[in-house]
Amino acid sequence: MKPVRFKLTQTNIALETPSYITTHPGLEQYAEAHTTPESILLRKLNRETHIKLRMPNMLSGHLQGAFLQMISQLLKPFCILEIGTFTGYSAICLAKGLQPGGILHTIDNNPEMEDFAMPYIREAGMEKSICIHIGEALEIVKGIEGSFDLVFIDADKDNYINYYDLVINKVPQGGLIIADNALWYGKVLDPNALTDKETAGIVAFNEYVMNDTRVENVLLPLRDGLMMMRKL
Ligand SMILES: C[S@@+](CC[C@H](N)C(=O)[O-])C[C@H]1O[C@@H](n2cnc3c(N)ncnc32)[C@H](O)[C@@H]1O
Repeated sequence: MKPVRFKLTQTNIALETPSYITTHPGLEQYAEAHTTPESILLRKLNRETHIKLRMPNMLSGHLQGAFLQMISQLLKPFCILEIGTFTGYSAICLAKGLQPGGILHTIDNNPEMEDFAMPYIREAGMEKSICIHIGEALEIVKGIEGSFDLVFIDADKDNYINYYDLVINKVPQGGLIIADNALWYGKVLDPNALTDKETAGIVAFNEYVMNDTRVENVLLPLRDGLMMMRKL
């Protein structure tokens, strides 16, 4: 049996920022403590992201990363598309499930992210299976040939529908699209928040997917909400 070392304290709750109204911070920590531990490499990447970058909470983190890894390992994709690399945390998790010879394309419009992520990608031995593209995702996706068995959408929220429209015909039957932040810190419940473009983008996207008969979907209240869509 794996040892569980977890003790809930006020201090470790306070360390979790931001907290999502979908999960009690204590329960999220309990779930992390009862999830296969983060690898040394991912822990180091997580830590360096928190120390050096301004918005470290953009990183998927242990629980969501482990979930993405498990989904990818179950699906065994040959080609993965990720929109929003940041420091490479979710890319490394998702690439764990690739078939031999498979490829994960990840896109970010901030060139500094490549310098940050590459040493970790190399250390993970994934430099041949993870390809970072720098530029506007809307443009870059159009230039990537072939189909995507798994797509992870995790960049500018007001473009979620555009990203979905770009990839839906490139996903084969049984393929998966996952969109992060589908609950957007709970703002999807607040009509006053619709004036900001990110909230409006997420709300419109969730509606759009609900009305699309090409997929079946589940909105999972994990962390900030994962909209999972399986192509029919
Ligand atoms: C939430 S972070 C991605 C986190 C990463 N997937 C993870 O879980 O570790 C979003 C990233 O998308 C990038 N981004 C934002 N708008 C973009 C755009 N229009 N095209 C490409 N990348 C963009 C940002 O620079 C940022 O690094």
